[in-house]
Amino acid sequence: MTESTFWGGTIRKLWATESDKFQSHLLRLDQDNRRMRFGHGVSETFISDYASRMSDLNSLTYGFFVDGEVHAAAELRKLGDSWGADAEGAFSVERDWQDRGLGTELMGRVIRAARNRGVEHLYMSCLAENARMQRIAKKHEANLRFEYGEVIGDIMPSCPTYLSLFEEAFDDSRGFMLAVLDLRSKMVHAA
Ligand SMILES: CC(C)(COP(=O)(O)OP(=O)(O)OC[C@H]1O[C@@H](n2cnc3c(N)ncnc32)[C@H](O)[C@@H]1OP(=O)(O)O)[C@@H](O)C(=O)NCCC(=O)NCCS
Repeated sequence: MTESTFWGGTIRKLWATESDKFQSHLLRLDQDNRRMRFGHGVSETFISDYASRMSDLNSLTYGFFVDGEVHAAAELRKLGDSWGADAEGAFSVERDWQDRGLGTELMGRVIRAARNRGVEHLYMSCLAENARMQRIAKKHEANLRFEYGEVIGDIMPSCPTYLSLFEEAFDDSRGFMLAVLDLRSKMVHAA
């Protein structure tokens, strides 16, 4: 999928300098969604620390931007020092933006990014009660298994193709252009 504009917003990868936007998004999650995202209740300090590690090169993060703010995010994390056979995905959509297809769309981006990095198993864990997460994982043909009160989703991305590599690169350049235009319009308004 190469279209980057949805519901009046834009999906693109976050830059290393944008961890503050990721942090603000995670802080806007209500208590229940924070618990669903991290598997247990977490404090603001935990979130700040977690978000500050966004740029540590162990992950890539997609954001859904509206007016320069992130309202949904999807992370692909390495399980090791370099991209290997296994990786992990995590998702967060703010309450007001849920049930519009954003989680499904973001999961598609993460699966494609995993595919393009040679990942063979993309794992996602969520609480057993998290019906939305399980629904979007099933839509992407994940095998779901229950383990100690959690559900582990395992998606096996296909091998990369020229098309999947091109689509990601095309999205990245389009995302870059949209980010620059957004910055430019902010500077014009501020002047
Ligand atoms: C899980 C999450 C990422 C899903 O994002 P989203 O944007 O709401 O997802 P979508 O709109 O693409 O899809 C939601 C699906 O769940 C379905 N759904 C909603 N409520 C449901 C319920 N109570 N039971 C079953 N399915 C439900 C929707 O109908 C939709 O399915 P459909 O497209 O077939 O109709 C989002 O709810 C979220 O961020 N939750 C808090 C954090 C979290 O749980 N993260 C996952 C663990 S890492």
